[in-house]
Amino acid sequence: MRVLVTGGGGFIGSNLVETCLKRGDDVRVIDNFATGRRENLVDVESWRKAGGGVFELVEGDIRDAETVRRAVTGMDVVLHQAAIPSVARSVADPLTSHQVNQDGTLNLLIAARDLGVKRFVAASSSSLYGESPTLPKVETMPSAPLSPYGVDKLAGETYCKVFTQLYGLQTVALRYFNVFGPRQDPNSEYSAVIPLFASLMARGEKPTLNGEGTQTRDFTYIDNVVQMNLLGAEAPEAACGEAYNVACGERISLLELVEKLNGILGTQIAAQHGPPRAGDIQHSLADIAKAEEKLGYKVTVAMDEGLQRTVAWLAQ
Ligand code: UD1
Repeated sequence: MRVLVTGGGGFIGSNLVETCLKRGDDVRVIDNFATGRRENLVDVESWRKAGGGVFELVEGDIRDAETVRRAVTGMDVVLHQAAIPSVARSVADPLTSHQVNQDGTLNLLIAARDLGVKRFVAASSSSLYGESPTLPKVETMPSAPLSPYGVDKLAGETYCKVFTQLYGLQTVALRYFNVFGPRQDPNSEYSAVIPLFASLMARGEKPTLNGEGTQTRDFTYIDNVVQMNLLGAEAPEAACGEAYNVACGERISLLELVEKLNGILGTQIAAQHGPPRAGDIQHSLADIAKAEEKLGYKVTVAMDEGLQRTVAWLAQ
């Protein structure tokens, strides 16, 4: 398979690049390394050798339609991960978030349609469910995003569905629930909570809970997300034009997360509290039955095992 991974220098993207190269796919990456990191791809040559395929890098921005066409040319499958992936950052800068997450996605869909791509798998997000009190979140529930990021992801996956209906482009949208694991950046101002807390606590520092810390999340280890992308790429056509939750179907609070990290690290660090974060959702939990039934998804690495692997990676 010839696979384009957009955002292949990012956390999720680079994990997809690794898996696809190792199984022998030809992989092209488009990344402008704005949020992606070159160090995520340092081992790319050994992954390529293991599978015997070809690796190419297109360094460029998905907001540029010409660059996008160049990247999409000759590809069978697009695994679209490129984004500005942060709720908080979208609150601070909604326009850039819109331009990358919405316009960039539309550029890719148009190129995929025009250049004969067979399957377009797009990263969507649990953030589009917003704050409705009903748990778990089922794909049929109305969306009600609380942040520009949620709006962007809703628009992106709606474009996917419409491109399937209008033009017959085979799209699959994956609603990721708080993904974590190796290669997720612990050092950005907008780092996700697990790499942030794990790296702070490993240095003996206190993490800061935004509000009470009673927020809950369905934290999802990266291997499950890689699996869903591959299932999305290979699922029968009947599965297309649809969105699927990608999660574990279990949730923990941030206070419980701190406790688990203390257990793994052998520390006894108490978190401190800061003000609640604007645009933050209180509770998040996925129903994963649709992914299980229609795509054959199975959680392969659960929360505790994933957390141990992540802490081990951060320690390296
Ligand atoms: C959201 C989306 C997720 C998306 C991600 C992209 C939801 C439910 N999830 O994650 O699908 O992939 O954005 O960024 O909308 N926190 C602290 N202290 C900190 C940092 C974070 O308490 O120092 C809290 C946050 O306020 C939040 C939780 O930890 O309640 C998780 O935050 P984060 O990791 O940023 O992800 P979400 O915003 O939940």
